[in-house]
Amino acid sequence: MGWQDEIQSTDAQVRELFVQVGRFPPEVIEDPRVNLIHRFAQQAGVLAEIQRPEKLLDLSGIVLGAIGKFPAEKRREIGALSNAWKQRALAELERIRIADEDALAQAERSSAGFDATLPAVRAERGSLHPITQLTRELTDLFHAMGFLVLDGPEVETDLHNFEALNIPKDHPARDMQDTFRCDPEGKLVLRTHTSAVQVRAMRRLKPPFRAIVPGKVFRQETTDASHEHTFHQMEGLVIDKHISVAHLISTMKVLLRGVFGREIEVRLRPGYFPFVEPGFELDARCPFCKAGCRVCKQSTWIELLPCGMVHPNVLRASDIDPEVWGGFAFGLGLSRLVMLRFQIDDVRRLLAGDLRFLEQFS
Ligand code: FA5
Repeated sequence: MGWQDEIQSTDAQVRELFVQVGRFPPEVIEDPRVNLIHRFAQQAGVLAEIQRPEKLLDLSGIVLGAIGKFPAEKRREIGALSNAWKQRALAELERIRIADEDALAQAERSSAGFDATLPAVRAERGSLHPITQLTRELTDLFHAMGFLVLDGPEVETDLHNFEALNIPKDHPARDMQDTFRCDPEGKLVLRTHTSAVQVRAMRRLKPPFRAIVPGKVFRQETTDASHEHTFHQMEGLVIDKHISVAHLISTMKVLLRGVFGREIEVRLRPGYFPFVEPGFELDARCPFCKAGCRVCKQSTWIELLPCGMVHPNVLRASDIDPEVWGGFAFGLGLSRLVMLRFQIDDVRRLLAGDLRFLEQFS
């Protein structure tokens, strides 16, 4: 008997089991492949297995598992047939599942006690992390002033993080930033500041350009309420002709107006960083008080960010002629600004991943 003939003699018992187990409708059970696969199972001696109701749903799996028992020339046909049936059976099961769900919902809706006016259960919604919120705001602000937004690797070369920033190997300024080293030779480091991207930007882009680089940095710090080993900075870099400290100050004032929504007085103090000359610490008048408070440690000034005019050696290291081009750079402590803006008292809360804390900023 050829397999076409076998199709004609669908096994009544198998059909009955299918109806019971899967609640497959008759047209699915009548699928000639079912009967054929059943016959194959019989030939392969695995029919007993599929007589168990729960195994019927896996009819093709059982037959495929026994494929080695069939003559080689028949295997391809049996394989294709079994897989085709499996697809149909799976689609059918999904249809039954959806129909069951609908029926259940319908029953709930029509049963006594169902109140269509009650509010629905609220779906839980996530929210943006305060660091992401402020980063996006600042990115928009600087974008409007013509700044590019750049990114860089968190695992950096010693060259980008130190050497090309005018901090050679034996320079004492290396001690200012306790560094996680990634290899015994110390060629790779977890970047200690976003200034590393200054070098990449200067080598990649032709002056004039302006760029900011928001990102994560790492230091081997003893942590406390204002020091974390992993925190966020935002670098700023402007390279152009005739750039002066006045441009730096006015850019910082725009930044503060954007963050605090009003004009904020700033002042510069001398600061030392090998990659800027002159270098400054920029302080902002405390946005929270007039006469001194806990945030400004009673001084009415908040130390906001280090900055300065790009050092000629740094320009030279990136093949930019310091006789023609100049610029300013700043390194905003983004995590600290987030703390100020959202009145957070401990920097370690920011990356602790505690949803109870983060939900407050949604
Ligand atoms: C720097 O990282 C320089 N690259 C900044 C710079 C850029 C100077 C461009 C000149 C020109 P500093 O180590 O001070 O500088 O860090 C910058 C800011 O990061 C600090 O003002 C502070 O707000 C923040 N910061 C530093 N260490 C930590 C820490 N452990 N946890 C949280 N914030 C920190």
